[in-house]
Amino acid sequence: MSDLRTPEVNLEVVNAEGRFVFPSWCDSHTHIVFAAPREEEFALKIAGKTYEEIAAAGGGILNSAAKLQKANEDELFDSASIRLRDMIKQGTGAVEIKSGYGLTIESELKMLRVIKRLKAAFPIPIKATLLAAHAYPTAFKDNHQGYIDLIIHKLLPQVAAENLADYIDVFCEKGFFSLKETDQILSAAQQYGLLPKIHANQLSVSGAAELGVAHQAVSVDHLEETDDKVLTTLSTGNTIATLLPSCSFYINIPFANAKGLIENNAIVALASDYNPGSTPSGNMNFVVSLGCIKLKMTPQQAINAATLNGAAAMQIGHEMGSIAVGKKANLFITRPMTSLAYLPYSFGQSQIENVILNGDFYHA
Ligand code: NIG
Ligand code: FE
Repeated sequence: MSDLRTPEVNLEVVNAEGRFVFPSWCDSHTHIVFAAPREEEFALKIAGKTYEEIAAAGGGILNSAAKLQKANEDELFDSASIRLRDMIKQGTGAVEIKSGYGLTIESELKMLRVIKRLKAAFPIPIKATLLAAHAYPTAFKDNHQGYIDLIIHKLLPQVAAENLADYIDVFCEKGFFSLKETDQILSAAQQYGLLPKIHANQLSVSGAAELGVAHQAVSVDHLEETDDKVLTTLSTGNTIATLLPSCSFYINIPFANAKGLIENNAIVALASDYNPGSTPSGNMNFVVSLGCIKLKMTPQQAINAATLNGAAAMQIGHEMGSIAVGKKANLFITRPMTSLAYLPYSFGQSQIENVILNGDFYHA
């Protein structure tokens, strides 16, 4: 403070005595454009059905797709806006949003156009990801190549022409997209300048993380199921390991091996995965708490992973993720706290007193 230059203009002085000022959370993995919640699956889950069983019985992603196909752009924009405002009030100041509940050309484009509108309407950086390869639509259940051809030859050119996406993503998993199918889609997207992200190793050790590194993916996300090969592969290159502990928490699957990744010098980011099926929450403070409590990260590591490394996973590290000269002033100020660790320690509660976006107080 003693080095602070006297401002030339009359600036508002905010007294943050006893408080902490954090850079906003950078939530690099969400699916917040969806038509309806899926509480009906909540009861099935409590009764013991697994995520895969619910999906195989026509629930899951296909259930969300059927509802989204019937919704119009305005409805989707309005409900996503409510979610995004809630996330901002909880400290999120940059976000990535995926398509993937359309599963037809028209509905995937509809989702991406909604994300484009969100980009224009909200005062935070937003990245868009094409996730048409999220599940095979029923009509293509026995004709995988038919759906992949549709994505490659019809959807990708249109998405590129309208500049609707920054990244391509594939749910690479048993019962969803195989390694070969994922490889094919990522390679085709490369021609259009869409860098890959992959839903990798969520339910099984599949080779998806290694495929991501081979494609120089920006990030491989989930990684609940990993072996030593995944750890050593991620120790080289710049592909970020994005971990989503609130997904593990909600669908009762293993927590990712964050400590192993960090010990192997991998780059670890934390994100929410906010979606109606596996993670109906965009609360990044809870994600950071789980990072500490379940992934055994230190508070400093978890906060770094949810800010600077999350920004890197959206390629906006130059403007977001830390408080520094030249970066955006997207911040939150806490209530008085005794230490930094108090933030993840007080799980499920918000310590945020004020949110600042682009240097201005944010009032939703
Ligand atoms: O990241 N695993 C794939 N996609 C989402 C869940 C999608 C859904 O269940 O609606 C995820 O967990
Ligand atoms: Fe996801």
